[in-house]
Amino acid sequence: MNKQLAPIGIFDSGYGGLTVLKKIVEVLPAYDYLYLGDNARAPYGTRSFETVYRYTLDCVKWFFAQGCPLVILACNTASAKALRSIQQQDLASLAPSNRVLGVIRPTTEMIGTVTRSGKVGILATKGTVSSGSYPIEIEKFYPGLAVYQEACPMWVPLVENNEHAGPGADYFVKKHLDSILAKDHSIDTVLLACTHYPLLLEKIRQFLPDGIQVISQGEIVANSLFNYLQRHPEMEQRLSKTGSRSFCTTDDIADFEQHASLFYGTTIKAEKITLT
Ligand code: DGL
Repeated sequence: MNKQLAPIGIFDSGYGGLTVLKKIVEVLPAYDYLYLGDNARAPYGTRSFETVYRYTLDCVKWFFAQGCPLVILACNTASAKALRSIQQQDLASLAPSNRVLGVIRPTTEMIGTVTRSGKVGILATKGTVSSGSYPIEIEKFYPGLAVYQEACPMWVPLVENNEHAGPGADYFVKKHLDSILAKDHSIDTVLLACTHYPLLLEKIRQFLPDGIQVISQGEIVANSLFNYLQRHPEMEQRLSKTGSRSFCTTDDIADFEQHASLFYGTTIKAEKITLT
């Protein structure tokens, strides 16, 4: 590989970002991708701002040390709690020509185009909900849109423990869907604002009334990255294109490989890394 060129970094606290990576490689297959799941410190969704920021920054530094000029935080919690600080405070001293992008902005840019009632529900981790990032960002693009949020703290553990398709998941999926719809019965669009939630899609559809659309972020983020690379040739030219995919975790490799295939759709080989 040309030493000047490097893969796109894709980051999540654990496995969820693989649902985003899967869509990104469908849209942009030629590029090389380096995935990192910070499984040893996941979940992030219940942690404080300070902790999520510190953990995410460690991982961004690791990507930069691997040479990645562009890192996507394929994690809503990290995007909500760490992205702005990294972009505004850290990037200038770390690597001013590198870029770190998140998943919230591209999603909020399009959400107003798909709702007919003007009422949308955001399903997310506690951390993303308490950050207020979605209502704040949506207000910028679509003032007047009614945004209702629901924290679903059990959904990530259900997915992480491979219980998302089992009967135990029914109770918690229904509980949070009922709760968000009770906030306004004319919500016609719900956004899965956590990259783990697409694995619960079948159950979510099962417990939602007909006519309510469910939006996952993978495709939105992939299309947004496509557009970004078209608008930023200076970044595009720094990216390697041999079609390689590498997977790293901060925790046990065997667990990661077994679990990751659920999220990514095919078996993968992983490498364990240590963050300094
Ligand atoms: N996948 C992460 C997100 O999109 C949440 C998982 C976690 O809590 O670590 O918010």
